[in-house]
Amino acid sequence: MMTAQVGCSGVAGNHRSTHRCDTGFAMVIYMSVQTRVRRLTTTQIRARKGGGKLACLTAYTAPIARLLDPEVDLLLVGDSLAMTIYGFPSTLPVGLGLMIAHGAAVVRATEHALIVVDLPFGSYQASPGQAFASAAQVMAATGCGAVKLEGGEEMAETVAFLVRRGIPVIGHVGLTPQAVNVLGGYRSRGHAAGERDRIMRDGLAIAEAGAFALVIEGVVESLARELTARVTVPTIGIGASPACDGQVLVIDDLLGLVGEFTPKFVKRYRLFGDDIRAAAREYAEDVRSGRFPASEHTYAASRRSDAEDR
Ligand code: KIV
Repeated sequence: MMTAQVGCSGVAGNHRSTHRCDTGFAMVIYMSVQTRVRRLTTTQIRARKGGGKLACLTAYTAPIARLLDPEVDLLLVGDSLAMTIYGFPSTLPVGLGLMIAHGAAVVRATEHALIVVDLPFGSYQASPGQAFASAAQVMAATGCGAVKLEGGEEMAETVAFLVRRGIPVIGHVGLTPQAVNVLGGYRSRGHAAGERDRIMRDGLAIAEAGAFALVIEGVVESLARELTARVTVPTIGIGASPACDGQVLVIDDLLGLVGEFTPKFVKRYRLFGDDIRAAAREYAEDVRSGRFPASEHTYAASRRSDAEDR
């Protein structure tokens, strides 16, 4: 954060630059500078359309968010946390309370990336008014910069309602996991002409309604390419080909923390799941065999000072 005091006297200051002002006096600008890198804003993300690709990831907890923050443009506190953190079979069971708790943790741990929090299932679909109440609560309680919601043409009025009232929105079209029970599963979308046209109309309607970016999930490449070309806001793909303006992945997928099966659209950058299991196995063997804890992990009976305790 930077605050500036402007004056026409010659008083010295910590950081100062000198300009000529109307009166002919030297104008000194005093700056109390706390040189923090400012968080990316929704307008900066929006301005990246057709520019450098946006690198986005999900984050749900403070320690992981802190590690990811300097490396990416946007962190999404996705409702995928229902599956990755809480072990539910879909994203449907989480509510506003959990999204707010995780959103606030991620905001607290970060200072660079734009933080976007998912509006959970059932918290916004009923009406624009319901969506506003939920989104305002999420933004006020977490300090996040924007919310994301799923849906197409049927949600366009809601997106416009939120944006006009000061809530920045990212849309989410294509495979929309909150609608899994209507869609009949998590298969990729847009193969048939009718479905392709519908998703195209969905994306156009959400962008037209004022969303500053659009997540496109699980669609065929030609559809992602055409939709990206036709909307004026950045598209962020997940299982939507390299044609999008950016990419998002679920962090647990990238780190290899979940499941045996790797979906086609996922690239595993590490296999930390294997490491975690191996570490737990070694630990258990050490405990059972008496190798841990050893003398170096044990407090001596007599202590010279409190400092040694630490
Ligand atoms: O909840 C989530 O993680 C998401 C991404 C898959 C885009 O919505």
